[in-house]
Amino acid sequence: MRGYLAPSPLNADQAHLAEQIALVENYAGAIHIDFMDGHFVSALAFSPVVVRDLKRVSALPLRCHLMVSAPDQFVDALADFGADVLTVHYECGQHAQRALSRARERSLKTGLALKLDTPVAVIEDQLDEIDSVLIMSIVPGRSGQPFLDKALARIEAARAMIDERELPVEIEVDGGVNEETGRRCIAAGATVIAADSALFKADDPTEAARRMAAIAAGAR
Ligand code: DX5
Ligand code: ZN
Repeated sequence: MRGYLAPSPLNADQAHLAEQIALVENYAGAIHIDFMDGHFVSALAFSPVVVRDLKRVSALPLRCHLMVSAPDQFVDALADFGADVLTVHYECGQHAQRALSRARERSLKTGLALKLDTPVAVIEDQLDEIDSVLIMSIVPGRSGQPFLDKALARIEAARAMIDERELPVEIEVDGGVNEETGRRCIAAGATVIAADSALFKADDPTEAARRMAAIAAGAR
């Protein structure tokens, strides 16, 4: 499966979001957009209208990462605005399951995200129905945190389950991903690397994106 970079502009210059995306777009396979509700995580981030507006400035698929307690309440708005992938946290329980089934009804691709302490085995009986697994490599809630090595064995575990059943499920990793940690994630079996700080805080975001996209392209 082809690997790719998914820039996450959570902490990029919000007054110039389109320009920030344009700097990295040529090396990206999708844009990763974070939604936070002040409840599932303490911070707030993005409203669904950002999907509508990013659709106008970029042809890239929009991967929505919902760090919200009731993701089922977001599905229709995100679908109406043109989201491509809806990734919800397993930890939201029935809200997550309802969001996934509604997303399928709305023809969105789906993803299941796991916090670091959630056993990877929980994906086992959902793998046939989802398009991607998101392994968090930080505590969700903000950009700029260091990568936690614990994520690597979790990527390997997800990779083993997916390969054993020969499923076309992507493995995305999110948090503290830079060239060095990104390389390790790809070696462990990830196919999508999300990144904010390593791109948008770099002196040259375009060059940083070029280098990280080359690393992601090495996915098995
Ligand atoms: C944080 C978000 C991430 C964030 C990553 O919870 O889910 O997508 O933007 O930022 P970095 O790459 O700086 O860790
Ligand atoms: Zn994210």
